[in-house]
Amino acid sequence: MSHSETNLRIVLAARPRGTPTAADFRLEQIPKPVAPESGVLLRTLYLSLDPYMRGMMNERAPAYTRSIPLSEVMPGGTVNRVVASGNPRFKAGNLVLGNAGWQEFSVSDGKDLLPLGTLDPPSRALGVLGMPSFTAYVGLLDIGQPKPGETVVVAAATGAVGAVVGQIAKLKGGRVVGIAGGPDKCRYAVEQLGFDECLDHRQPDLGKRLAAACPNGIDVYFENVGGAVFEAVLPRLNVGARIPLCGFVSSYNDENLPPGPNRVPLVQRVLLEKRVRLQGFIILDHYATRLESFRREMGDWVTKGQVKLREDIVEGLENAPSAFIGLLEGKNFGKLVVRLAAD
Ligand SMILES: NC(=O)c1ccc[n+]([C@@H]2O[C@H](COP(=O)([O-])OP(=O)(O)OC[C@H]3O[C@@H](n4cnc5c(N)ncnc54)[C@H](OP(=O)(O)O)[C@@H]3O)[C@@H](O)[C@H]2O)c1
Repeated sequence: MSHSETNLRIVLAARPRGTPTAADFRLEQIPKPVAPESGVLLRTLYLSLDPYMRGMMNERAPAYTRSIPLSEVMPGGTVNRVVASGNPRFKAGNLVLGNAGWQEFSVSDGKDLLPLGTLDPPSRALGVLGMPSFTAYVGLLDIGQPKPGETVVVAAATGAVGAVVGQIAKLKGGRVVGIAGGPDKCRYAVEQLGFDECLDHRQPDLGKRLAAACPNGIDVYFENVGGAVFEAVLPRLNVGARIPLCGFVSSYNDENLPPGPNRVPLVQRVLLEKRVRLQGFIILDHYATRLESFRREMGDWVTKGQVKLREDIVEGLENAPSAFIGLLEGKNFGKLVVRLAAD
């Protein structure tokens, strides 16, 4: 097979036990797919890597998603170039947002494709103008409901969701304290994203440093991480605090609950005494009602330079597994995207 006739793809080879390893993925070369007469043949330019993919690798996936069958292509949001189209909505050369997953070429009936026009750089459709940013927008504004002068704490503060949460909170007049892994990320959050402070969760005494950084307590905690970060936040919540529960990535590789003691009563006591509103949410539920206002407001903020998101771009599909494993350990710095082909 010549290169132009082949499709490189990565499938789920085995179900991870704990932290995924390279052996859980398999790189395959198969014939390039042929689009049906009314279909669209797509080439992947960018692939988004996101924490939710970890849950899909398990036999028992979270209720809001599905378990990937073994030997199936790893799923994922993508930016694609239309190679050929029998669908009147799309022409060869068009740039689209799709769901091609971890592969070079794919076919679609066009229903899941969104035209991107001349978006430059197109990878922004997976980050600051895409799903993670939309998640930040809905979680912070609809559930967190920050008021001017309130203290907003956000975990994974330089990541795709966290960086946008903090910048929106600043636009709404909040005092923003980020929590991130390592001095480079913390410096970036303050100097480039405009956070008031950012604390390194890898250093000791996070709780004490958090108390010093939040002299008026915490009004909104945007939860991305869970674990030790949540434990540091809990005693510092104010009466009436809101917690958008977006994710708890520190536990995604755990096969079992951590050993006791049982801390549920402690958590419940704080939630009750402080009248905390903690609400989990899944962004898929909000597209029908909130996407339009997100597009309008975020488009405006991004154009004016008021919200930005650093991209961590990894070259080549073959490097997707190691980049994904790193995402679950904090090795990414910004929105993690794989580039498969030039724009
Ligand atoms: N509910 C929804 O619909 C929805 C939608 C999108 C995303 N999410 C969730 O939002 C969260 C952020 O996602 P993202 O795409 O923006 O990823 P991200 O923040 O770009 O990357 C994940 C980050 O999590 C942090 N992390 C990983 N392991 C950690 C640990 N053990 N302790 C503390 N921090 C750890 C790392 O940042 P540091 O190095 O700074 O610690 C890492 O860079 C995830 O929990 C994800 O599942 C939820």
